[in-house]
Amino acid sequence: MSIQANQRRLTAPDIRARKGGSPIVALTSYHAHTAALLDKHCDLILVGDSLGMVMHGLETTVPVTLDMMILQGRAVMRGSARALVVVDMPFGSYEASREQAFMSAARVMKETGCGAIKLEGGRRMAETITFLVERGIPVMGHVGLTPQSINALGGFRTQGRDPSDWGPIEEDARAVAEAGAFAMVLEAIAEPLAAKITRQVAIPTIGIGASAACDGQILVLEDMLGLSPRVPKFAKRYSDLGPAIDRAVATYAAEVRSRSFPSADNVYEIKPRHAKAP
Ligand code: KIV
Repeated sequence: MSIQANQRRLTAPDIRARKGGSPIVALTSYHAHTAALLDKHCDLILVGDSLGMVMHGLETTVPVTLDMMILQGRAVMRGSARALVVVDMPFGSYEASREQAFMSAARVMKETGCGAIKLEGGRRMAETITFLVERGIPVMGHVGLTPQSINALGGFRTQGRDPSDWGPIEEDARAVAEAGAFAMVLEAIAEPLAAKITRQVAIPTIGIGASAACDGQILVLEDMLGLSPRVPKFAKRYSDLGPAIDRAVATYAAEVRSRSFPSADNVYEIKPRHAKAP
């Protein structure tokens, strides 16, 4: 039996029930060890397809595959015990049809053991969201800036800065909520629009660059730890681990070169199995 077996994991309905209540705390993780660190502080851990950029150095999330998401989803499930783990559906794994979305999402749920999936898109994905939810797959929506559509959007741009652009974004958010999603990410949306959507929809909004008006917040872990080379304006750096890692690696390299590492503390002495008692 796993040491985590007695912990009750939060579920999609638990998160759904937090609408208008105490803010939902969410972060991304792609590894067992960071998931374990996040687990006691976060309600929700997202295995985001941002892993393509953060772990693999890709320019966008577009090349990320279902196999990459499943591998890291499993790692995060192993490292965590309490938080709801949501795994992102990567570009190309769900948009063609409701059936394609179901087959991909079912693989993610079966092979990772996660509690929900996330997919990008508003009105165009509503029918798919309903199809998945009716078949037992909890779905988190994602509207506003949707990075998988970067090639169509022409860049990572804040959405809804001009009120004349609000209509379609509001319609997207309403469609995702009415389709049966249990929560939705609002990414890079001007504050008054995020506040308006949060008032309008019956499910929690989780903001990333969408203001404190949302029902919860999410950040990419490496952005808030100071490990990403470029961070958007909305990603507050809570730590600056880059220079600390640089110092540690420089010290290690110098000690290896001078043979001061490993020292007596880090080596095994001989321990004969049949030593005679004195
Ligand atoms: O992939 C990701 O990390 C995300 C968050 C930015 C919400 O979708």
